[in-house]
Amino acid sequence: MHFTLRQLAIFEAVAEHLSYTRAAEVLHLSQPAVSMQIRQLEENVGLPLFEQLGRRTYLTDAGRELIAHSKAISRRLREVDELMAGLKGLTAGRLKVSVATTANEFGARMLASFSQQHVGVSISLDVTNRQVLLRQLETNERDLVIMGRPPEGMDVVAEAFMVNPLVIITPPQHPLLSQSPLSVEQLAGERFVVREQGSGTRNAMKRFFDANNVHATFGMELGSNEAIKQVVAAGLSLAMVSAHTIIQELQTGRLAVLPVIGMPIMRSWYLVQRRGKRPSPIADSFRSFVLQRADEFCNLERAGIPRHTLPLDEQPYGDSGRAALTPDRIPG
Ligand code: PGA
Repeated sequence: MHFTLRQLAIFEAVAEHLSYTRAAEVLHLSQPAVSMQIRQLEENVGLPLFEQLGRRTYLTDAGRELIAHSKAISRRLREVDELMAGLKGLTAGRLKVSVATTANEFGARMLASFSQQHVGVSISLDVTNRQVLLRQLETNERDLVIMGRPPEGMDVVAEAFMVNPLVIITPPQHPLLSQSPLSVEQLAGERFVVREQGSGTRNAMKRFFDANNVHATFGMELGSNEAIKQVVAAGLSLAMVSAHTIIQELQTGRLAVLPVIGMPIMRSWYLVQRRGKRPSPIADSFRSFVLQRADEFCNLERAGIPRHTLPLDEQPYGDSGRAALTPDRIPG
């Protein structure tokens, strides 16, 4: 079989968009040029790769087989690219990082600072919830993932680099504030606005209440921490959020933290990658950057959460030999 890398790139674009016209636009080629390359590729392969049914284009079985291999070839070529870039002194290459929605703020600042030292590196940051992060780890599509709890049942290396305290927030005049410190039991029956299914914060909150045998009502479900803060500030509900998301609101007094015995729930932020993954030099460099300089990007003290109150746990996690700050102290 004989084909060129160019033909594979064109094939991947058509397969992705299932449209010759759209692929031509993306590749800045004419539509006939795209069609011709696909025709030649089909002749070389000896089988049709696409079929046209009505107005829609579909991959054939042969096309589906080829796309998997074609992507594997492209991935290997990118690895060669990155390796070479690494040898050239980290001045080029690609870095793909995903962070949990909740880690958005410091994650973006970390990447921005890192990118200043590596201007030629193309960086992609995906901000998404835990469920999607798990899928991305599974499909091995990102270099590194920043998340709030390493996945169970998946072989990963996870390195803790920053604490992640979860607190309950209220508007500043909330009556519960005058009764504090509260026991967890006193929260029974309170109404909480919660993040969407699949959010790590939501899971941790549920584990916390379950572990304390407290039934709190999960009310409105919102897909962003920003929206949650708005609802709480409007006095409509309580919420449990990571302290990382409310630095400004605590500074301006727009929100308050409810003192509850046994809180904050101490979690950690982890850098996670699949065990056995061969990191690109730039991914390795970003990993070191995060592990060494995370403190500079942690704003908790600015929000009145002193660092010395944040316990360190000596328990190591993964095989990096680095101590985890603390795994969730909630069973389950
Ligand atoms: P999330 O945060 O709630 O934005 O998914 C991840 C986590 O805290 O585990």
